[in-house]
Amino acid sequence: MSGSDETPRILIIHGPNLNMLGRREETWYGRATLEDIDREIKQTAQDCGMVAQTFQSNYEGALVEKIQEAIGAYDALIINPAAYTHTSVAIRDALLMLDVPIIEVHLSNIYRREPFRHKSLIADVVTARIAGFGKEGYMVAVQAAADMVRREFRD
Ligand code: DQA
Repeated sequence: MSGSDETPRILIIHGPNLNMLGRREETWYGRATLEDIDREIKQTAQDCGMVAQTFQSNYEGALVEKIQEAIGAYDALIINPAAYTHTSVAIRDALLMLDVPIIEVHLSNIYRREPFRHKSLIADVVTARIAGFGKEGYMVAVQAAADMVRREFRD
């Protein structure tokens, strides 16, 4: 485990415009704010015996730096790169340096939306993917990550 004590640590990274949840396209993203979601994520992680840290940025470089900081420091990563999902080779390259389970989450089902959202540049780099469950997708991802960490799963 990467934590200083034995409690596994999980990092959740949110990309651009997700700080505006609750105020953007409710049909796709729901009403909950990012603060609401992060609170629920932390509680879910605690219920699963893990400690969660959350991070949001609108800047690609800041997201890349956070992923770099995660090397050796966390036992699992959940990431919703938002619009950078479809464009960022830099985020893809950063994720390739991690050797812990990575779960890609999208609030909306990106395959029911515009064709440019159908392509994820990280799809073949991550361990698993969840899309279309709204904020519940993060909770499912936390539970699945906890299970993978327990099983010491690596792919
Ligand atoms: C998103 C889907 C992306 O296409 C979009 O740019 C987002 C959010 C989602 O969670 O459904 O900002 O990643």
